[in-house]
Amino acid sequence: MAKKIIRVSPSLLAADFLNLKKEINKAIKAKADWIHLDIMDGSFVNNISFGLPICEAIKDAPIFKDVHLMINDPLKYVKNFVDVNADLITFHYEAISSKRKIKELINVIHDYGCACGISIRPNTPIDVLIPFLKDLDLVLIMSVEPGFGGQKFMDNSIDKIKTLRAIIDENEYDCLIEVDGGINEETSKLVKDAGVDVLVAGSYLFKSDNMAQRIRILKK
Ligand code: DX5
Ligand code: ZN
Repeated sequence: MAKKIIRVSPSLLAADFLNLKKEINKAIKAKADWIHLDIMDGSFVNNISFGLPICEAIKDAPIFKDVHLMINDPLKYVKNFVDVNADLITFHYEAISSKRKIKELINVIHDYGCACGISIRPNTPIDVLIPFLKDLDLVLIMSVEPGFGGQKFMDNSIDKIKTLRAIIDENEYDCLIEVDGGINEETSKLVKDAGVDVLVAGSYLFKSDNMAQRIRILKK
């Protein structure tokens, strides 16, 4: 059987913000596949991270930009993130009030030529995503409550990944599974066994002296 490709997306939230350029180059040199950009509005989640000016500053960095919108009313801001070269925009299922509005937002993102993902919080079941899977490029399973880096991995994400993997494979959907929160050497094994495609990791990668080695460990 062909070996499965695991992509790694370091979360910039854990980087040294006084040295952003250096930090991004470090991730690129360490062979990160993507860079994960956590956008928080202080309303959808209880924290404010960074926003468009930071994304603008790094818009020409030669790496795939994986934008995770933890904000209310994502439709209002999608175009701004497209303009700063987002390659993938993931919004939260819980931030949108109806199935119709979710479908509309997926179409808007795709019409801008951007890939589209939906994320769910730890307490949201997988089933809610079933109607959208055929149209999505990615599902992001949160393995911590969104809002902060450095939290402990919640293992209820494992069964969600397994269930989702089975549904995607059975229907041959072209949709990646990404996991975010508390990923390190140990927890990455659990989610890889469950069938994940993309690993987000903040503290584990940016707080290390050898990011390249840690990325290799995650990709194993
Ligand atoms: C949490 C963010 C995560 C976070 C991950 O709300 O979505 O991307 O930065 O950080 P670690 O890997 O430290 O849990
Ligand atoms: Zn994130």
